[in-house]
Amino acid sequence: MAVIDRVLEPVISPLKETMRRDQTWPFLIEKQPPNIDVSHQVLLYVEGLSVSFDGFKAINNLNLYVNDGELRCLIGANGAGKTTLMDIITGKTQADSGEVYFGQTIDLLGKSESEIAELGIGRKFQKPTVFEQQNVFSNLELAMKAHKGILSTLFARLSGQQLDRIDEVLEIIGLKEHRRMLAGALSHGQKQWLEIGMLLIADPRLMLVDEPVAGMTGQETERTAELLTSLAGERTVIVVEHDMEFVRSIAKTVTVLHQGSVLAEGTMSEIQNDQSVIEVYLGETS
Ligand SMILES: Nc1ncnc2c1ncn2[C@@H]1O[C@H](COP(=O)(O)OP(=O)(O)O)[C@@H](O)[C@H]1O
Ligand SMILES: [Mg+2]
Repeated sequence: MAVIDRVLEPVISPLKETMRRDQTWPFLIEKQPPNIDVSHQVLLYVEGLSVSFDGFKAINNLNLYVNDGELRCLIGANGAGKTTLMDIITGKTQADSGEVYFGQTIDLLGKSESEIAELGIGRKFQKPTVFEQQNVFSNLELAMKAHKGILSTLFARLSGQQLDRIDEVLEIIGLKEHRRMLAGALSHGQKQWLEIGMLLIADPRLMLVDEPVAGMTGQETERTAELLTSLAGERTVIVVEHDMEFVRSIAKTVTVLHQGSVLAEGTMSEIQNDQSVIEVYLGETS
């Protein structure tokens, strides 16, 4: 016995160390949401931001401040820089100059896309990217597992808490009755809601939503306006949209981008009566 102990000692000793009750493997620690300082009510600061593509200024000395819990609409003609702005905030595109802060203290420039996602910034692209061959529930389950990290996918079963969260999200996005339906069989609008749900699983603090109602029916558009309105408050939502009816129906503060800068900002009626906006944007569409 003693001999075996001695032989196994080099193996068992580090194992014992690892298994100590008071120790936890880093990959088992639940990710804590980062501490975001919103003591000045502002969640997102963009200051003096510029980016050029081959000498063309897609974003040109742009300033934008979005309050915590706000639902902000970004509008602007094609090429105004709306998507590029989202690309910079989410770390997909590097800025040439300027600052982007998440709360008072977190500098987003220079962070990778995954670091920014971990900070609680979720993004929905224009085209829905759900897994068509999986049902609605599985799509949310996959989003949950992706969020929790690689290791948890080895444990096939989700915890009760995680299942509750999926139920909650199904309720929010209005797809409870469709949980067993293949995502590929959903309407275009339902796919968009499912994708919003996949973002919500990670409980983001800030959601960036690019043209959510493009291609939706009138009813789906209305439902999306309700959905996004209900999400704000608890979280902050920035939505880029062309559909002026939609913007009118949800908007509290609207920011108009033009040639990579902020042209005007205010309530929908302020924007509609702004001479510069009428000339460069609304004039074209109405
Ligand atoms: N990766 C890129 N390379 C070159 N030009 C780009 C790139 N991304 C965007 N642009 C250009 O920057 C401008 C702003 O584009 P974008 O941000 O997509 O506008 P919006 O979303 O407001 O329609 C456009 O002129 C576009 O062609
Ligand atoms: Mg765009």
